[in-house]
Amino acid sequence: MHVSSLRLSHFRNYQSMEVGFHPQLNLFLGSNAQGKTNILEALYCLSTTRSFRAAADEEMIQFNQEAGAIEGVLQQEEGQEQIQLELRKEKNKVLLVNGKKQKKLSSLLGRLPAVVFSPDDLFLVKGGPALRRRYLDVTILQMDQGYLGHFQQYERTLKQRNSLLRQKIPNVEAQLVIWDEPLAEHGAALIIKRAEVARRLSEFAGQALKDLTGGAENFEVRYEPQLPLENNEGSLKERMLQALAQARREELARGVTVVGPHRDDLGLWVNGKPLRKFGSQGQQRTGALALKLAQLSLLTEGCHTAPLVLFDDVMAELDEKRQAFFLNRLQQGGQAFLTGTSANDFLAASKNARIFWVEAGQIKMTQEGPVGA
Ligand SMILES: Nc1ncnc2c1ncn2[C@@H]1O[C@H](COP(=O)(O)OP(=O)(O)OP(=O)(O)O)[C@@H](O)[C@H]1O
Ligand SMILES: [Mg+2]
Repeated sequence: MHVSSLRLSHFRNYQSMEVGFHPQLNLFLGSNAQGKTNILEALYCLSTTRSFRAAADEEMIQFNQEAGAIEGVLQQEEGQEQIQLELRKEKNKVLLVNGKKQKKLSSLLGRLPAVVFSPDDLFLVKGGPALRRRYLDVTILQMDQGYLGHFQQYERTLKQRNSLLRQKIPNVEAQLVIWDEPLAEHGAALIIKRAEVARRLSEFAGQALKDLTGGAENFEVRYEPQLPLENNEGSLKERMLQALAQARREELARGVTVVGPHRDDLGLWVNGKPLRKFGSQGQQRTGALALKLAQLSLLTEGCHTAPLVLFDDVMAELDEKRQAFFLNRLQQGGQAFLTGTSANDFLAASKNARIFWVEAGQIKMTQEGPVGA
């Protein structure tokens, strides 16, 4: 499957734009602030219903407009499918598939899996646990329909529970206990799935790091739960209920839920040492790349179709050898979209591609063929 065309209206700096894509390799060239990343952002929205950088959907609507839209045509073996996402100010966005309004935005998940590579990936290594949990959740949500239910129920329960704890009303304990049960049930399901996926990610990330560095280092990705791991959901749920009971006083004092997978982390270890603390800049950068490559491998294995690869400004940071490695890796996968500010960023791309020149919210020119030809 690939995206054959994209139409944007009042999206970021695009007033109205339509563009047709190459089924494999698409390169976007242009100066800074012209609209290259905005195109990748629109594609990611078609994949996951949300942006990889905006905190709120409204940010993506063109300045001084009330609404914006992203429309993509997916080309599949069985035929075409049209996906439309309408963004509206102060209202929920709307999803339409083949012109038909969908009840749930989440029905989009997994249809068109995607992986973004960006210079910000370094924060996966250097930043706090929330970013790593998000990386893990976004991966699982794209390939496992069953995870979504537990994920949403857990978030909802946590919110309810925290709001109860904040209110500091008398006899709150009797009400709290009601929320312990769903928190532990869905929490246990999240932990079991995350730990399982982390084990597979670790295998792929270890291999990716070997490919990137020539094999000297040993990279491990470990799910690091706050509670000791159990093999089955039932015992983990029991353990979580016990921990909640023990933490009751602390939770009441602090006004927040302190037990559960929302406090867990994904540990990154190189040669037995935490990458965040002891890795050099270069090792951390390579570790982040390996994590993203692992996500790509995992989604390729776990989804019905090869994921879109969105490669934002990453080529410029790679030396020639790594550029060649990535282009070769991309060649084996699905459709790829790469951005850069100069044709030099893509000199290693000797294979056929469609090249787009982006300028001030417009695609100025398109050329087909190898870069530099
Ligand atoms: N909601 C919006 N409405 C109108 N313009 C916007 C909106 N949000 C962002 N922009 C503008 O879009 C422009 C292009 O952004 P984009 O991030 O796509 O640039 P880019 O080509 O990727 O640049 P760089 O090479 O620096 O990464 C920015 O100048 C920004 O001001
Ligand atoms: Mg950009």
